[in-house]
Amino acid sequence: MTDVLERLRRLRADDAPTHGGHVLSYVYDSGRPELDELADAAAQLARPLNGLDPTVFPSIAAMERDLIGFAKRMLHGGRAIIGSITSGGTESCLLAVKVARDLWREAHPEAAGLRPRLVGPSTVHAAFQKAALLFDLEWDPVPCAPDGTVDPADVVARMDADVAMIVVSAPAYPTGVLDPVRQVAAAAFERGIPCHVDACFGGFVLPWWPGLPRWDFRVRGVTSISADLHKFGYAPKGVSVLLHRGRRRRRAQFFATTRWAGYPVVNPTLLGSRSASPLAAAWAITQHLGDSGYAELTASIHRTATAVRATIAEITGLTVLGDPVGPAIAVIADESVPEADRVDPHRLADALVAYGWKIQHQPGFVQTDGVRLPHSAHLTLTPALEQGIEQFTGALAAASDSVRGVPRADARALAASMRALGYGENGRVPGPKAAWTLLKLAGAAKVSADQPLATLMALIEQLPAPVAEALLSELLARLSDPR
Ligand SMILES: Cc1ncc(COP(=O)(O)O)c(C=O)c1O
Repeated sequence: MTDVLERLRRLRADDAPTHGGHVLSYVYDSGRPELDELADAAAQLARPLNGLDPTVFPSIAAMERDLIGFAKRMLHGGRAIIGSITSGGTESCLLAVKVARDLWREAHPEAAGLRPRLVGPSTVHAAFQKAALLFDLEWDPVPCAPDGTVDPADVVARMDADVAMIVVSAPAYPTGVLDPVRQVAAAAFERGIPCHVDACFGGFVLPWWPGLPRWDFRVRGVTSISADLHKFGYAPKGVSVLLHRGRRRRRAQFFATTRWAGYPVVNPTLLGSRSASPLAAAWAITQHLGDSGYAELTASIHRTATAVRATIAEITGLTVLGDPVGPAIAVIADESVPEADRVDPHRLADALVAYGWKIQHQPGFVQTDGVRLPHSAHLTLTPALEQGIEQFTGALAAASDSVRGVPRADARALAASMRALGYGENGRVPGPKAAWTLLKLAGAAKVSADQPLATLMALIEQLPAPVAEALLSELLARLSDPR
């Protein structure tokens, strides 16, 4: 047994560090080891349970009630606000869309067979594209300005009878920008269209962030909000909360059947059997931290954001994209200075690895109106980062110095050679074998945590999206092929 655990420890040694704030995406370290210990102990206590049936295991319902109550108070929800605990942000977003679609179909029997639209700024999380695909809606993105802001009038202009739901972000992951929730939700309300606020990323931070306009259930017209406990709730992965305004909306989430040979099935969420461990961990953390604990952790993130932004303001050639609020910042090259002085964000992200920090490459994105959101590097700021803030800002400045003037990676020739093979034309997408060959051709068939990614990101931007998606799917698929 100890041998097995030793092998796991050796495998884990290759992972990027999950603690200390050195990886500025994916992981959300509170910087308080006692929270991890508490979460571990709670998860262990709940480990044998099955969330499938809270009548058999009432502790699950009790923890869910407390968590939903906590989130509802945090988001200023009144008596009509109820919700569910899900397995994560994507599941919360999927369910919000499924509810909207089902209620739209119910309200529009004349439109049987038609696909309703799902409308939101093009910076909303990709989970909404996934939801549209799975639940047969048309994803209708509203282009944003290059600084990541959306004009509410552009969203309102799309609010027709075939729109099942509007989604806005608080804030958007790629930019940290808070969408104009009030303007959009008010217009949606007038037209009877539901408005979901995706606060998966910021839900457990923005309630304590100073100086924000209202974006939660105090805004009339906001019909649902998603907020992830496994992000800034500081719980281990596998837990999020989805709140609805009104019982009818939440009921539309449920799947129930007595029409099979086994036990009556009632699933409030997408899964059947589900672990209670992430739920128990999240419950314990929220009980322990309470409102004041989250306020303190948010104050730490706020100080860190201020320090990071002050550092970026001093770095020639680098700038912050738009005006982010909360724990996300995206950095881009400052195009107001000569090329020789610019800091390419992907060169910077690659260079930072040598200093012990990982920020996240985001490819440039050309929206449906042709306006490009610039390629950038994303920073998720966590409380743990405050303890090493001087090392981080020092590394940011030094790594910027080391790449200043280095032009962004160019993958146009590589992309052209793939196009020459006919991929991307007439919807031709490489199958698994061809995708693997192309990845090898691009030198991208092997991935490791420390690998420079600037060229791969440029290639992703240059290739037709279906081709890039096929390549990346193959890359991920091969990782778990048995050896
Ligand atoms: C705004 C937003 N929504 C949804 C998601 C999806 O969450 P998850 O990765 O937990 O499925 C994320 C993840 O980063 C996010 O930032």
